[in-house]
Amino acid sequence: MNSDSHPVVLVTGASTGLGLALARKLLPTPHRLILTARESSLPRFAAAGISESDRVWLRALDVTSAAERQRVVDEADAKWGGVDVLINNAGIAYRAVVEHITDDGRLDQMNINFRAPMELIQLVLPRMRAKRAGRIINLSSVGGMMAMPTMALYSASKFALEGATESLWYEVRPWNIHVSLVQPGFIHSNSFLNTRYTAASKRAHDDPASPYFHHYDRMARMIARLMNSTRHTHEHVAEVILRTMRQKNPPLRVAGTPDAHLFGLLRRFLPRGLYHRLLYGRLPEVKIWGGACEVPGAAGAKPNSSAKISAD
Ligand SMILES: NC(=O)c1ccc[n+]([C@@H]2O[C@H](COP(=O)([O-])OP(=O)(O)OC[C@H]3O[C@@H](n4cnc5c(N)ncnc54)[C@H](OP(=O)(O)O)[C@@H]3O)[C@@H](O)[C@H]2O)c1
Repeated sequence: MNSDSHPVVLVTGASTGLGLALARKLLPTPHRLILTARESSLPRFAAAGISESDRVWLRALDVTSAAERQRVVDEADAKWGGVDVLINNAGIAYRAVVEHITDDGRLDQMNINFRAPMELIQLVLPRMRAKRAGRIINLSSVGGMMAMPTMALYSASKFALEGATESLWYEVRPWNIHVSLVQPGFIHSNSFLNTRYTAASKRAHDDPASPYFHHYDRMARMIARLMNSTRHTHEHVAEVILRTMRQKNPPLRVAGTPDAHLFGLLRRFLPRGLYHRLLYGRLPEVKIWGGACEVPGAAGAKPNSSAKISAD
């Protein structure tokens, strides 16, 4: 195979976290790589010891910029004959209860996690269809199969990505284009430090008198604890992505970590009512959530020990 026939792989958000772990795994392969990151994050490649070569491009790509998306894909089309494997990895997570969601937060979350991957897919598909070959891998999450309190925006974006990707799976099969969703669960990393807040969710998170204080406090601590304690790293998930890329007929949904596999089974096989009650019962100190609002404005008010759900 001459170097011009090696697949062209484009990765978004490749300068840190999972994207960087994947870039490191791709570098020793013969693939031609387009590793992208926001302009301000490009210096991280040098810091990670990654530099350009005749088969590795480092390109500025803020996935929310239509001009940058177009520029990167145009260059790939002109010089390398198009993108063969698109890996939509860039993503963000908001922490906000539904009452604290703002338009800005909603747009930011949806633009990065849903709209941008869709727009990139639209740009690469014509070449893939012409070649009758291609692969698209979208990074979803356990949050794309189940929703947790304070994570409404994140789950909405990943549910949207899941739905659209599932449609795409059917649509592009006639052209031998393989479409997959990789769904990681908790990954051992500091990615939770990048969590974004709306103004109201930030205030409530920092204010013990807020009716939602316990929701934020307990969820933030639980997620940090689970991410710190899991053994599954970005490298493990990168390996799963690589395997998916190489599989002759990859499935539409691929668990990125074993906990994601377990959550998938729970979601599929437990009756809904039982599933919701089980998860509700696992939320840390859920009986005191909302406690601060029992006596308006009072911090540490009587715990709401009668909190119950009736899940359908
Ligand atoms: N970490 C987890 O436990 C976990 C679990 C399930 C799913 N996932 C999913 O896995 C993917 C990678 O997550 P991660 O753990 O690597 O998170 P991360 O460490 O927070 O990295 C997120 C990446 O997305 C990039 N990004 C954010 N906004 C961007 C934009 N507008 N344009 C281009 N790039 C942008 C970031 O670049 P900058 O640094 O330049 O902002 C960074 O490279 C995400 O889709 C995430 O939802 C992660």
